[in-house]
Amino acid sequence: MNLLDGKRVLLGVSGGIAAYKSAELVRLLRAAGALVRVVMTPAASGFVTARTFQALSGEVVRCDWSDDRTGMDHIELARWAERILVAPASADTLACLAHGRADTLLAAICLASEAPLLVAPAMNQAMWRHAATRDNLACLQRRGVQVCGPDTGEQACGEVGPGRMQAPEMLLQALSDSFASGRLAGLKLVITAGPTREAVDPVRFLGNRSSGKMGYAVARAARDAGARVELVSGPVALAAPEGVERVLVESGQEMLDAVLARITACDIFIAAAAVADYRPVAPAAQKIKKQAGEWTLQLEPAPDILATVAALENRPWCVGFAAETEQLELHARKKRMHKGVEMIAANLVGDGLGFDTDDNELLLVWEGGERHLARAPKSRLAVQLVEQIADLYSHSMTTDETPADDAKHSA
Ligand code: CTP
Repeated sequence: MNLLDGKRVLLGVSGGIAAYKSAELVRLLRAAGALVRVVMTPAASGFVTARTFQALSGEVVRCDWSDDRTGMDHIELARWAERILVAPASADTLACLAHGRADTLLAAICLASEAPLLVAPAMNQAMWRHAATRDNLACLQRRGVQVCGPDTGEQACGEVGPGRMQAPEMLLQALSDSFASGRLAGLKLVITAGPTREAVDPVRFLGNRSSGKMGYAVARAARDAGARVELVSGPVALAAPEGVERVLVESGQEMLDAVLARITACDIFIAAAAVADYRPVAPAAQKIKKQAGEWTLQLEPAPDILATVAALENRPWCVGFAAETEQLELHARKKRMHKGVEMIAANLVGDGLGFDTDDNELLLVWEGGERHLARAPKSRLAVQLVEQIADLYSHSMTTDETPADDAKHSA
């Protein structure tokens, strides 16, 4: 799961030989889809040029107050940033931050911003060990600033000890981790994904075009939000997301059995699978041979997994998906009532959206509310969907109303 995609990261670069490593960090952040703006301290420009960061970030780089063209640039940047990382953070910059100074443009932005602040100290080992630096760091940590590193090893000055800036890959990970919401921490989620296959005979099946991408993206987003995720998946060409327990199934009945075997103590159930509504009444034991003339395949309703789970006595909070070709909101609301679930995530199929695509667009409907999630990669939609589920779930924990009650009200 790429938590950095589309995120706005302000990278502060202060004076130190490690500043060159921050150029690599900008490259990694951009590759992860983050939007990066760089603000350097005047001391940093003695080590790396603004032009280097400008080329890598694709954005104007600011160094000192003369770069604050409108006089309000520092406020605009402070508001723009979702995260600020100062890397390298020199002893002097840490002192400035600890004392709330605003003499450099970077220090002023840090002071004016409400975004979480991360710092990656880099300095001579004696400076790092000095009581003044220790005090400044302790003060910053008390205020919630995340300190990344430093690493220990050989230093540019020839000494050996703590004070090397953490590697760009580690800083990338720290930024990514800082976006993991933790909003579903301690909860167990069961998620279905992908298509099902209903056997006609040993070599043929009825299936559908679902790639499983949306369900897998939701599983990753839920995992990143701190949930324990069990993914019940139909046949797909996707690897099991790391940290997610996956069970592979074929038919709707197998999917139902796997879900029911895991539903105890499940807090939230998300049915993202495209389950067959009908299955052959009597799958043939041997391959069906070609015959002259027409052939009729008799179908019977397949079990409805979402409706079955929603009807359980001790049921989890349930979310269903709906793929529609018309009247999206109407069908979504009807489906929510009909299946007796808390939320439906509906999307229109066709026009390059829906099955087997990387992008999607969703309308989320719940009792008394709705939210439109604009067209975006499924990974980003999944994060927004999980956030909405976390909001509604935590709210529902403080009230007693269930979808069954909603149905009574509207009857
Ligand atoms: N679903 C399910 N088991 C089924 C069919 C659907 O769990 N046998 C779930 C899907 O995972 C999805 C939701 O129910 O979350 C909606 O599925 P959909 O097939 O769109 O709804 P239906 O009730 O089958 O309505 P229709 O096909 O008429 O639109």
